[in-house]
Amino acid sequence: MFRYGGHEGNDRGEKKMCGIVGYIGKGEAYPVLISGLKLLEYRGYDSAGVGVLDERKEFHLYKVQGNVSRLKEVADVQEHGGHVGIAHTRWATHGAPNVANAHPHQSQDGHISLVHNGIIENYTVLKRELAGLGYGFKSDTDSEVLVQFISYNRQRYRCPLAEAVRISLHGVTGSFAIAVVDDREPEAVVVARRSCPLAVGVGKDGSYYIASDITPILPHTKDVVYPDDDEIVRLSAGGEMEMMNMDGVRLTPAVTHVEMTADQVEKDGYDHYMEKEIHQQPQVMRECMAGRVLLGENRIYIEAFEANRERFMNASRIVIVACGTSWHAGLVARYAFEQYAHTPCVVEYASEYRYRRPVILPTDVVVVISQSGETADSIAAIGPAKERGAFVYAVCNVDNSTIVRMADACTLTKAGIEIGVASTKAFTAQVLVLTMLAAEIGRAKGVMGGGEYSALINDMVQLPQYMEYILSDESAIRRFAATLLPCRSMLYLGRGNQYPIALEGALKIKEISYIHAEGYPIGEMKHGPIALIEPEVPSVVIATKCGEYDKTVSNIQEIMARQGRITAIATKGDTVLEKMVDNVIYVPDTHPLLMPILTVVPLQLLAYHVAVGRGCNVDQPRNLAKSVTVE
Ligand code: AGP
Repeated sequence: MFRYGGHEGNDRGEKKMCGIVGYIGKGEAYPVLISGLKLLEYRGYDSAGVGVLDERKEFHLYKVQGNVSRLKEVADVQEHGGHVGIAHTRWATHGAPNVANAHPHQSQDGHISLVHNGIIENYTVLKRELAGLGYGFKSDTDSEVLVQFISYNRQRYRCPLAEAVRISLHGVTGSFAIAVVDDREPEAVVVARRSCPLAVGVGKDGSYYIASDITPILPHTKDVVYPDDDEIVRLSAGGEMEMMNMDGVRLTPAVTHVEMTADQVEKDGYDHYMEKEIHQQPQVMRECMAGRVLLGENRIYIEAFEANRERFMNASRIVIVACGTSWHAGLVARYAFEQYAHTPCVVEYASEYRYRRPVILPTDVVVVISQSGETADSIAAIGPAKERGAFVYAVCNVDNSTIVRMADACTLTKAGIEIGVASTKAFTAQVLVLTMLAAEIGRAKGVMGGGEYSALINDMVQLPQYMEYILSDESAIRRFAATLLPCRSMLYLGRGNQYPIALEGALKIKEISYIHAEGYPIGEMKHGPIALIEPEVPSVVIATKCGEYDKTVSNIQEIMARQGRITAIATKGDTVLEKMVDNVIYVPDTHPLLMPILTVVPLQLLAYHVAVGRGCNVDQPRNLAKSVTVE
């Protein structure tokens, strides 16, 4: 009946980053599920759902478009008593992020409910065959096809849920981590995985805690079973755990005692979220480039550009509007847009732009850069721009955020949830996205030559390794940080597209270590700020070998001549500077457009180590919030 293994599904093979949670035991399921989802929101948060099976075998199902807080608002006030349940937070791939596509999904007879992370690659084949058997579908998802397929097999083979799951998974190609309940077997939850993470916490009272990673489990138990690929586990309210392979052969589950605390797991063993997020940047570069930098085809693909080519190609100018670190990303991008896309570009503080009554042209492309997508000042820029016919394009890290929903088009930075108040990985991803866009425009306009374009693509692909090189040895940065602890003021200096990095480096150290720091174009020093130079006011100079390197070296000599202390961020292999300055921190050489993405990393680390050394609250600095949703 079913041609197992047909493959028409997802052709990009990307894995969903959803989060699944499940519970069965003596306690109330709902609070465990909701708190567990909250800890998995980094895996996706464009829609969420929870289902609890009560003692009358009624399944209370609540689903929302939006994040877990939104789900909580809806479900908290509803009926959700019960000791068995499953829940899900979604990062949409198949089907828009809406309620219909949110999980849990149910079989059409309503008996079986399922949450799924992964991609069922042959779902279109299965869907067609199930439809031929009279099955209807309420969503666009592959996950709903799977729950219907399980229901079909349970009915066809008149078997318990675990067996129906086993039979069905034989007919599935792709990846999955699933948790399944059946109101005809209220005493059980069945889980299984292939290529997607899944952990089962073993509670001392016989409860079981199911999750995509151990973060939601650790508050309850440190004893964890990690099913292997193609293993199916039946968890029962009586505390039994039955594990089998795809052939139905019984297996003995191996229980691991996890030493890390939940807090440590959330930080992957780092001391702070900011430290974790700085070190996530190589992987963030990969995620951000996935499906966009196509090395084999020697091309960049930005969906928002392809869908709106005319607007970008014919833009009279690009008006970048942002705040804080995102504003610095815009300043970096301006060099790319003007030098490589020949598109005039202005960069505006959103807090100024919103009140300045700016001239906005219908041929403007207004680029709103925002990690959170909820910054009030940046949101305020969108309405006037759209009223005057400008095209609004968002570069954002949170899908379905206000800015994303208001914009005409959007590119997600895919940096993953950023928890540290000081933005790091979102910044480098913003610069990368904007550089990709500038290259697309420049190439399409014919103003960026094929050789330059290919060189940029090749260097982009190297970014993760280059970042890993910088992150592999923090010793020089730690030593320099230790000398800065008593400092009261610093200067950060750069030229060209490194000038915005000087600003960003100054902002980082200001906002988490509370040392006053000022970023400045180094060429401007002689117009006033050089009066500040003295041994107690150290300077950090970004002096990489691109742009007017020789002029920067001259500026360094001017500062040294006035007893200034200098730490230089230099290009690996540069032997000139180390003879001149107090410290040198090296970064690999790469395309000039990508150098800012590398030079900011030592400055992020420097700020981090100084803040730690000064005993500051790195992740929640005083007076600040992660997202400034008010004026
Ligand atoms: C960055 O380290 C700061 N936390 C802050 O400047 C931030 O960049 C700014 O508030 C803009 O936030 P957004 O990117 O979420 O819009």
